[in-house]
Amino acid sequence: MPHADAQSNVSTNGRTIRCRGERFRVYLDRDTIQRRVDELGAQISREYEGQCPILIGVLNGAFMFTADLMRAIDIDCEVDFLKLSSYGAEKVSSGRVHQLKKIDADLDDRHVIVVEDIIDTGLSMEFILDRIQKEYRPASVRVATLLHKHEATQVELPMDYVGFRIDNLFVIGYGLDYGQIARNLADIYILDEE
Ligand code: IMP
Ligand code: MG
Repeated sequence: MPHADAQSNVSTNGRTIRCRGERFRVYLDRDTIQRRVDELGAQISREYEGQCPILIGVLNGAFMFTADLMRAIDIDCEVDFLKLSSYGAEKVSSGRVHQLKKIDADLDDRHVIVVEDIIDTGLSMEFILDRIQKEYRPASVRVATLLHKHEATQVELPMDYVGFRIDNLFVIGYGLDYGQIARNLADIYILDEE
């Protein structure tokens, strides 16, 4: 029997876990994630040498990736965040996007890198890029996403830095949630279709 802590909706059993009653298995382990994040950070450091890009992390999901990516960058850089509405407790995108927290920094003349945990339908990123272009005159805008569900993406988007192209299944951990829990898992887990 998997161990279930009375305080928690996540119970672990080796490489599989149960979260909100559904089974997930390890898909990308922490070392694999860290190696790829380090590569992306090195690439950004090379490509932005002599500049000071500003990372715009998309809350809540991208907080962990943004922190690790920033630590992997060895040139001057800044960070700010915006917040979008989440899936709620659903596993499929509603397609409705609301902005819950605005960017505080002035992005005029800045080299902007929008940092996402995952691009699924692409509607959130389309919304963000549209907002940034309407509200500021950035010097450049690029997109970094840890995960890309390429089969689910409905819109054309620039994706300059992609960690992993993944299967079109729901994932949790490393910042990604299922009804707000599971963000604290260090590995990324995928829904285990039994
Ligand atoms: P999109 O607008 O459909 O591209 O969805 C983007 C947002 O939905 C992401 O920033 C995530 O916060 C969330 N999301 C998409 N797929 C998943 C998933 O598999 N697990 C958890 N959150 C997800
Ligand atoms: Mg997100």
